[in-house]
Amino acid sequence: MTDPTAPAPTAPIVVRTPEELARVRSGLGRTALVPTMGALHNGHRTLFAAARGRADAVVVSIFVNPLQFGPDEDYDRYPRRLDADLAVCAEEGVDVVYAPAVETMYPGEQIVTVHPGAMGSVLEGASRPGFFEGVLTVVAKLFHMVRPDLAVFGQKDAQQLAVVRRMVRDLGMGVTIAGVPTRRDPDGLASSSRNAYLSAEERASALALSRALLAGADASVTGPVGILSAARAVLDEAARAEPPVRLDYLALVDAQTFAEVPASFRGDAVLLVAAFVGTTRLIDNVPLTL
Ligand code: PAF
Repeated sequence: MTDPTAPAPTAPIVVRTPEELARVRSGLGRTALVPTMGALHNGHRTLFAAARGRADAVVVSIFVNPLQFGPDEDYDRYPRRLDADLAVCAEEGVDVVYAPAVETMYPGEQIVTVHPGAMGSVLEGASRPGFFEGVLTVVAKLFHMVRPDLAVFGQKDAQQLAVVRRMVRDLGMGVTIAGVPTRRDPDGLASSSRNAYLSAEERASALALSRALLAGADASVTGPVGILSAARAVLDEAARAEPPVRLDYLALVDAQTFAEVPASFRGDAVLLVAAFVGTTRLIDNVPLTL
């Protein structure tokens, strides 16, 4: 419930063009950028709070980036609700919202793009060709426009976080990247804008993703083979549920390279899962130290 004695939240400044943004940016001190595609949820609130704790000013970009959607993906039906998003930003003390139009971000054909390399061609990169190229290209453009000191990303998109870190390192972008642990709903489902697509029955089936990761984490002393088979057992059962969970991939990867780990692996790893429930594609992961 809202606290009636709490001061009314201050609305963020909303800018639509790089020129407006540059004018506002010059008055900000140490600035954190949180890039988003809107449809803001509790996971985003956690990112905004983390950004606020690390900088003088928080800029949130809201832009559904066509370049990172495949032809058969949900670009057209991706939820767009700017008014509700601005209310969330106000509640979270966001200073500036940058909400450019598609024509502003891509005034012509985007011929020069940022290629993610090998790390971006596996897992999400294999299932969604062009996805990371689209993500890195828009993130690089946002970095040039906002000129943030740091940028905050969720660990829920673990491979995205890793390729963004690698881009910043390889291209010497001079932006500090902060990763924030995944926020989960009380039932364990990782917060995601795409959860809004799920019916109650689909949501119940989708809980198998976090259960599988938990089963894998519980088996971590048994090493990679045991971790994967514990997680797979949960997903096999979920494949027989109604509605079924259709697995895209389950993988245990080296946290640095995103290459699948050998049975003898020791070090920091990530257990990742991607699956469809109905027509909704969900991803989740858990970091593990082996
Ligand atoms: O994670 C997302 O919401 C998007 O991939 C991002 C980083 C905002 C780029 O469009």
